[in-house]
Amino acid sequence: MLSLFVYALVFGFPLFFLIRHHFLSPPCPQPTSVITTTETDEKKSLKTIMQPPREDLSLPKDDPFTLEELKQYDGSDPSKPIYVSIKGDVFDVTRKSDVYGKGGSYNIFAGKDGSKGLGKSSLKPEDAVPDYGDLPDNEMKVLDDWHSFFSKRYNIVGRVTDIPAIQRPI
Ligand code: HEM
Repeated sequence: MLSLFVYALVFGFPLFFLIRHHFLSPPCPQPTSVITTTETDEKKSLKTIMQPPREDLSLPKDDPFTLEELKQYDGSDPSKPIYVSIKGDVFDVTRKSDVYGKGGSYNIFAGKDGSKGLGKSSLKPEDAVPDYGDLPDNEMKVLDDWHSFFSKRYNIVGRVTDIPAIQRPI
């Protein structure tokens, strides 16, 4: 009986957490879940893993950046800030250098406008490009939700001047 208990403890627990992690925890939180005010229990639990909105943001700046200029802010030079552009708005994400800096999970979006990848919930390098105009409505909504998520958490430091022509702007 005791050995059964020990067996369950040793194998059961890790298995439980493995299954829970892979199948029950939400994939990357849809940003909407974090920002809605009417919350279900599920939304409340999502909220705990995402950083909350901030009260200390500065007024948005509209300093011009080209996509080429943006590349130097990809986190590879620790003396420079890290920028992520979404739909042409350049967000300063330096304080989350653990995530956006070199080797970070979302470094793929640093130093560029990766709007398409955000809309598609994709971390593939080929999707981290600015031309989001051909996204279907549901992915456009995801992209807009990310824009809103970032707007509430990071300062806008400028605007990209050479985003490819988009049929459906914000
Ligand atoms: C199974 C897959 C995924 C898991 C478990 C996951 C988990 C998470 C977690 C826990 C956070 C909060 C992290 C933090 O605040 O430090 C986060 C944030 C984020 N995730 Fe994911 N994610 C996944 C996939 C993706 C994908 C495919 C994308 C592509 C769009 C993505 C984009 C993001 C972004 C942009 C943030 C916001 C980071 C911030 O600035 O606070 N994630 N994810």
